[in-house]
Amino acid sequence: MKNSNIYIFTALLSALFFSCNNANTKTSVVKSDDIIEQKIDSIIALMTVDEKIGQTVLYSSIEDITGPVLDKNYTTYLKNGQMGAIFNATGSAFTRKLQKIAVEETRLGIPLIFGYDVIHGYKTIFPIPMGEASSWDLELMKKTASIAAKEAAAEGLHWTFAPMVDISRDPRWGRIAEGAGEDTYLGSLIAKARVEGFQGKNLADKHTVLACAKHYAAYGAAQAGRDYHTVDMSLNTLKEVYLPPFKAAIDADVATFMTAFNELNGVPATGNSFLLKDILRDEWKFNGFVVTDYTSINEMVPHGFAEDLKHAGELAMNAGVDMDMQGGVYKNHMKASIEENKIKISRLDEAVRDILRLKFKLGLFEDPYKYCNEADEANIILHKDHLEVSREAARKSIVLLKNENNVLPLDASKKVALIGPLADDQFHIIGNWAAKGDRDGIAVSVKEGFEAQNKAFSYAKGCDIEGGDTANFNEAIKIAKTSDVVVMVMGESERMSGEAASRTDLKLPGLQQQLIAEIKKTGTPIVLVLYNGRPLNLTYENQTVDAIVEAWFPGTDGGHAVTDVLYGDYNPSGKLTVTFPRNVGQVPIHYNMKRTGRPEDLEGAHSRYVSKYIDVENSPLFPFGYGLSYTTFEYGEPQLSSNTLSNNGSITVKTTVTNTGNVAGEEVVQLYIKDRFGSVTRPVKELKGFKKITLEKGASTTVEFTITSEDLKFYNNKLEFANETGDYDLFVAGSSDANFTSSFTYK
Ligand code: BGC
Repeated sequence: MKNSNIYIFTALLSALFFSCNNANTKTSVVKSDDIIEQKIDSIIALMTVDEKIGQTVLYSSIEDITGPVLDKNYTTYLKNGQMGAIFNATGSAFTRKLQKIAVEETRLGIPLIFGYDVIHGYKTIFPIPMGEASSWDLELMKKTASIAAKEAAAEGLHWTFAPMVDISRDPRWGRIAEGAGEDTYLGSLIAKARVEGFQGKNLADKHTVLACAKHYAAYGAAQAGRDYHTVDMSLNTLKEVYLPPFKAAIDADVATFMTAFNELNGVPATGNSFLLKDILRDEWKFNGFVVTDYTSINEMVPHGFAEDLKHAGELAMNAGVDMDMQGGVYKNHMKASIEENKIKISRLDEAVRDILRLKFKLGLFEDPYKYCNEADEANIILHKDHLEVSREAARKSIVLLKNENNVLPLDASKKVALIGPLADDQFHIIGNWAAKGDRDGIAVSVKEGFEAQNKAFSYAKGCDIEGGDTANFNEAIKIAKTSDVVVMVMGESERMSGEAASRTDLKLPGLQQQLIAEIKKTGTPIVLVLYNGRPLNLTYENQTVDAIVEAWFPGTDGGHAVTDVLYGDYNPSGKLTVTFPRNVGQVPIHYNMKRTGRPEDLEGAHSRYVSKYIDVENSPLFPFGYGLSYTTFEYGEPQLSSNTLSNNGSITVKTTVTNTGNVAGEEVVQLYIKDRFGSVTRPVKELKGFKKITLEKGASTTVEFTITSEDLKFYNNKLEFANETGDYDLFVAGSSDANFTSSFTYK
């Protein structure tokens, strides 16, 4: 330990701090951001090249979900000042121990940043992000992100690798579970809400963490839905569909960005200066830091884009990647690249500056241990208020897909047969990427939900999620025969979605469909509750069962939430943010596709030679925006304030919505617009607004939207984001599959 250097350094910093503070009181012109930059200048001036490189190195401390620890020497690197950040180290005591090495045993004592994948909760787990998106409740998403941040920060963490803001239109891709769904407008609002939730208003607040917009960019468009696969798309689609949620994250001041694994139009995202320089820094003025995904610099060699690791590091650094996650490329090769002038020291200084700036903003130079507080940890983790939000979030995320003959809500006097591999499950219920969520003991299964609410039921597992064992079928059939209604809780295992979990078959795995078929023979009505991380092919289930409750992976309090919905203590209000296909052959299928020159409904067209399949209809099984309630809503004709919209003008659209059923309910009122033609073809419809309302039975309300010329802009044939004059159609409804009812002209 080199105490003398620590003292020199600390003295230098406090002198600078003192002089800046003085300057501040005298003239009031030195802003805190300027003071931070001055402090960074003074640190950079003290740093050796090795220490600078050290700041750009991120290693995992332990084996975790995304792979083994690649380099077991990380504590040695730490002592040598060769690491700027660590991930997968959690807990106040452990992070304090590591921070102490950085602060007290390295020459300059620069504190570490601790990162972790806090995706949908830390200990208290909320529904998987795609599930939670079905609530269309931005305040709720902000709240769950802020709770996740608070719990994570209480365990010494400063940084989450979330939110994932990748748009995805491909249910084969397992990571669709981690995002907000297929729509750019909604996805952008959700990106903003989640960033605001994680980061709060002040990064120095010890209950907040740095957010990370990932995976930049277009990772969700991997060919054939196969993870890590090639992405090739037009710049119009990239800019219009895939980039806006990243821009929304920047508008919400997101601190960091993560590059994607995939290549984009021939250039891996991690070495892509078009994405990282031209767009991110020059156009969007991002001033946080960019981290790679796990070893994605190294992967530019197998991509066939870099000759060797050293070359890969040069491509990444020169494209604008500031921190190397786990790959060790910057650590092992950058010095040589700098000596050969393949990377300029000024570029390295820029990266170090962006990293140090966030360490200052987190307040780590003032108190490197501020997030390591055992007392906070004990009080905050799994706080009862957090568990209540977990139940609320799960209830609001559930989507009722089918409810024939009003089999739901269940009548409490009726006897239920609770069946299925996930009915008594505490493991899968919290889903993939569940951070430190407990997979037993704390999570509440549906069976426990029933027990807690004293429901009359008997239970049989029936079958496993996967595999071919029919041994328990009979027991399930037996209880189905003697019950009034069957509730089957089925779906995917948590490992069937998330990273590296692409599927080519979207049906329920194993023998689950067969068990449904056997139970169907008993004649007892069937309610199917599903846990899954992607849109499934539910064609068979939709034909066979009476009700379908899409519960995603609902999180820690999921069992209570599902019980609340099944018995009507909560009236479901979730709406899909992803399209459910009729079969895997329809994929990719999304609500805002292009029309083609031979749409099915083309007047006068020959019925064979139009754009369709010969074996299945074009429409999906369940469209984007769809979801039932225990009540019904009626929509009045939209009233437009004008039939013309001018540049900088606006139109208001008013619609009356009435609750025509017998119970109170919530509804997501959605506005869709269609641009009839353009200099590049336009989608068949686009979501342009939504409002979530609550209506007592029999009540009506007027829902109002404002449309401005900004809402109509798109990337034209010159790749400019601009308006074009012409006619537009619109409708307001509770799902994307309604018909257009009104139109206006943009002049
Ligand atoms: C994933 C990232 C994640 C990282 C760190 C990678 O494999 O793609 O989303 O943040 O691992 O765990």
